[in-house]
Amino acid sequence: MAIGVGLLGLGTVGAGVAAILIEPQGRHPLVAELQLRRVAVRDPARSRSLALNPALLCSDPEAVVDDPSVEIVVEVMGGLEPARSLILRAIAAGKPVVTANKAVIARHGEEIAAAAAAKGVYVLLEAAVGGGIPIIEPLKQSLGANRILRVSGIINGTTNYILSRMADEGAAYGDVLADAQRLGYAEADPAADVEGHDAADKIAILTALAYGGSVAREAIATEGIDRLQARDVAYAARLGYVVKLLAVAQREGEGDPLPLDVRVHPTLLPKDHPLAGVHGVNNAILVEADPVGRVMFYGPGAGAGPTASAVVADILNIAGTRQVTGTTSGAPLDPLLAASSWRRCSLVDGSQTCHRNYVRLQTCDEAGVIGRIGTCFGSAGVSIQSIVQFEASLGDQEGEAEIVVITHEVQEARFRQALAAIAALAEVRTIAACLRTL
Ligand code: NAP
Ligand code: HSE
Repeated sequence: MAIGVGLLGLGTVGAGVAAILIEPQGRHPLVAELQLRRVAVRDPARSRSLALNPALLCSDPEAVVDDPSVEIVVEVMGGLEPARSLILRAIAAGKPVVTANKAVIARHGEEIAAAAAAKGVYVLLEAAVGGGIPIIEPLKQSLGANRILRVSGIINGTTNYILSRMADEGAAYGDVLADAQRLGYAEADPAADVEGHDAADKIAILTALAYGGSVAREAIATEGIDRLQARDVAYAARLGYVVKLLAVAQREGEGDPLPLDVRVHPTLLPKDHPLAGVHGVNNAILVEADPVGRVMFYGPGAGAGPTASAVVADILNIAGTRQVTGTTSGAPLDPLLAASSWRRCSLVDGSQTCHRNYVRLQTCDEAGVIGRIGTCFGSAGVSIQSIVQFEASLGDQEGEAEIVVITHEVQEARFRQALAAIAALAEVRTIAACLRTL
């Protein structure tokens, strides 16, 4: 029996979804049951490459949500508003929602989940994290028996594409970002990608699913690649590392609320680390859990086809439950698929967590400088793994040295104490870069 789908948005993702729905041949038979009934866009008059009946298009997303022939609402327009209100409107009308909008879910997920539970409808979001990679359903269902220890991943395709091309081709940051936009990987405002906010939205969602409770999105420590210098990518490579924008959610002991360290930042990964070989627009999520061990999910993290694959999988999940229950709302929800919170979680004080670090210092090129830097680290209880002086590069000032230090694992507060002492040394011109290291 046909099931009516209303699409809010026909951009990169929406067009990918429509392309699957209008060509169901060779796919699971349930795809042929899905009928695109109405599509909201900003500008219905704009010419589009997709062969879609123009009569389906309108500029009123509320009309799509309210249309009685629309049984499942697919929100792929992006942004916080009106997306949030439209999702809530659909739920209030008893219509299940599929969304790719991590920004809305990371900020308003609890409100949306509560409304959905009250109405007995699903809100599914496989496409919100990792593009075409199935990671949401595995965390909700397949890994449900585990105690999750850490979820770490490369979960922004745009920045991974930029970093890969900068490392491989020495390509210029601005040119590569423009390519990522042209290919449909970047957010409408690419600052969300390069400043790390998109990855922070995604790790907030993964955290809630992995640990059973949400953390305050705005409190997630977030650093992007916008201030990363090509020089650090090059030095990292010479020291045996690759630089990736990593998102991490890590259990820090037990308790109620469960203490978690959740953060996003550029990170030096040893070249043999499983995430180091993830290039281009690909994403990967490494889940470390008890008793399963390490499980890695890998694949295309953005773009029309991969993201649409995840969106349509969610639509099929809802269509499948309708086949069983005969309805898309009001029937008891499968608690695993609905993934409601079952515990409280909280973020730990970042100054108390322990990490390895990479520091680049610009100093006077004089005898004894490395010794004095070493003393500052030693006095703060920071153990150094390696300290290297790189020869001055073109453009550096005469008599200046560039010193890179990699520390052993150390408490953040101690590390900051050492950096303050180093910054006060007369020979140190500047602490030019400071990155986390695995
Ligand atoms: P997009 O290419 O910018 O498309 C947005 C679509 O929504 C356009 O069709 C636009 O209409 C329509 N739209 C926006 N505001 C509207 C409004 N107020 N009323 C009616 N229509 C409106 O965005 P996208 O890349 O497809 O991303 C959509 C969502 O998926 C975002 O939440 C994004 O974070 C998420 N996502 C994207 C990717 C990806 O690879 N692109 C991957 C995973 C998740 P017009 O066509 O007339 O402009
Ligand atoms: N802008 C996002 C990215 C899209 O580059 O990963 C996929 O969520």
